[in-house]
Amino acid sequence: MTCAIEVDHLYFRYKEFSLEDVNMNLHLGEQKALVGLNGSGKTTMFKLIIGLLEPVAGSIHVFERKVERESIWEIRKDVGFLFQNPDDQLFAPTVWEDVAFGPKNLGLPPEEVERQVDWSLDVVGMSDFVNRPVNQMSHGEAKRVALAGIIAMRPKILLLDEPFAGLDFPMISTMVDIIQNLRNEGISVLYTTHNRFFLENWADSVAVLHDGKLIYDGSVDHALQDPAIMQQTGNWNELGRRMREYRGLA
Ligand SMILES: Nc1ncnc2c1ncn2[C@@H]1O[C@H](COP(=O)(O)OP(=O)(O)OP(=O)(O)O)[C@@H](O)[C@H]1O
Ligand SMILES: [Mg+2]
Repeated sequence: MTCAIEVDHLYFRYKEFSLEDVNMNLHLGEQKALVGLNGSGKTTMFKLIIGLLEPVAGSIHVFERKVERESIWEIRKDVGFLFQNPDDQLFAPTVWEDVAFGPKNLGLPPEEVERQVDWSLDVVGMSDFVNRPVNQMSHGEAKRVALAGIIAMRPKILLLDEPFAGLDFPMISTMVDIIQNLRNEGISVLYTTHNRFFLENWADSVAVLHDGKLIYDGSVDHALQDPAIMQQTGNWNELGRRMREYRGLA
């Protein structure tokens, strides 16, 4: 088995938007950036992978299991989905209860739930917030708690929708490190971004959506040299420059 996710001739339609004949692979242990302009279909792709939407035609396989009604609950145990906006993800009264929800749902015994919550809050550096109401956090803090809630279920694949958006430089840097560490443990990661900086520095490969069509799926080096592809990422060199400066990379 070489693929964590296999998207094969996928078609999907909203009233005024469609994904057409999308083919894309996420290999085992790979970290892939999914880029494309606003409205190109990135979040829609994630929702199809997790079975929140149904394709019109084509298929998605997660660890060789087809995503369909009968399989989605099993597949969702393997795939953690970080929503674009953490406010859409956090719903329990406190951080502890929110992060514990997934492990409890998996039927883990209380001491194991406790262990997973402690571990995942530690991974994202949010242990001090354990008793905090979820509506009393900054955007960046909420994003990290949302990620803790996902990794507490020990997924094998992470779908991260704009994990760096709306974060300041220290927080972006922290988030990059968290994702790298998870990836080093063998988790396959697919993340969306609008900034070429993240694919330049951290992605193994990149897939590019343009108006519902996948126009590229391959190496980062090749993509960076193709102006037609780079037009789809936004050319925010300023963010890249400041991040490099912050992390001492330049
Ligand atoms: N529930 C919906 N009903 C109808 N159309 C929708 C719905 N959700 C999204 N769309 C449309 O589908 C298209 C793709 O949306 P999607 O959210 O996948 O884009 P995206 O690439 O994630 O964009 P962004 O970078 O802004 O997050 C957009 O034109 C959007 O308006
Ligand atoms: Mg989106």
